[in-house]
Amino acid sequence: MDTLWLVGIGTGSLSHITLEGVKALQQAAVILVPRKGDQKDDLAEIRHRIIEETGSQARIVHFEYPVRDPDLPYQERVKQWHDEIARRWQVAIAGVDITGPVALLVWGDPSLYDSTLRIAERLSPAPQVRVIPGITAIQALTAAHAIPLNTVDGSVMITTGRRLRAEGLPHNAETTVVMLDGLCSFQNLDADGWHIWWGAYLGSDQQILIEGPLADVASQIVETRAAAREQHGWIMDSYILKRR
Ligand SMILES: C[S@@+](CC[C@H](N)C(=O)[O-])C[C@H]1O[C@@H](n2cnc3c(N)ncnc32)[C@H](O)[C@@H]1O
Repeated sequence: MDTLWLVGIGTGSLSHITLEGVKALQQAAVILVPRKGDQKDDLAEIRHRIIEETGSQARIVHFEYPVRDPDLPYQERVKQWHDEIARRWQVAIAGVDITGPVALLVWGDPSLYDSTLRIAERLSPAPQVRVIPGITAIQALTAAHAIPLNTVDGSVMITTGRRLRAEGLPHNAETTVVMLDGLCSFQNLDADGWHIWWGAYLGSDQQILIEGPLADVASQIVETRAAAREQHGWIMDSYILKRR
């Protein structure tokens, strides 16, 4: 693979992909599509529908995501997982006659809590990488609630549920975005101090939004999240916290 194009596809709406992304998929010779196993088949389906809508004639090559080893420390677990994904990309396209760029559809944008660029660095020989930006979960969340991300002259912190549970929030965090939180970690905060804007399945027809003082809506979010996860078999949610 001489050329690898990473195409940001947004967060669940077929219309999130940019015109540049559409053209890239039309011009790609091969598109690598992950299969994530049972619960995320909806996401593979969205990828296939996007490819179909662009009219791309690229050859579709699938690869299976490996499973992370839960016995390893976090950083080592992720490193090994990335090594294995890079290996699987190479195995998947070995023997495929590649006559042009290889494309990968990246959920949201490749710059945000996504390791596709880090995995691409592991390829040997190194391909020429091009990034086509996409709409992030943060943009989908602020747009859905029609709010600005930052306060006037304010800073923004972006973190994960795991870090929020382990470290709490810094005293000067005016606006905090929390992603990758399977445990509603806002429950660990002093609920009186915060306002929350929460969203799940952002950009899709299933989108759910809840907003209000954390003390008032925390349990509603926990219950809504659990019910939606039960109904769909998976959930992706993000939220913004601002000091009240
Ligand atoms: C591995 S990260 C990928 C982020 C992605 N690269 C982006 O630009 O938004 C997955 C996390 O993104 C957030 N996310 C992605 N899609 C979402 C959606 N449709 N609705 C809400 N949150 C979403 C969730 O916090 C989820 O745990």
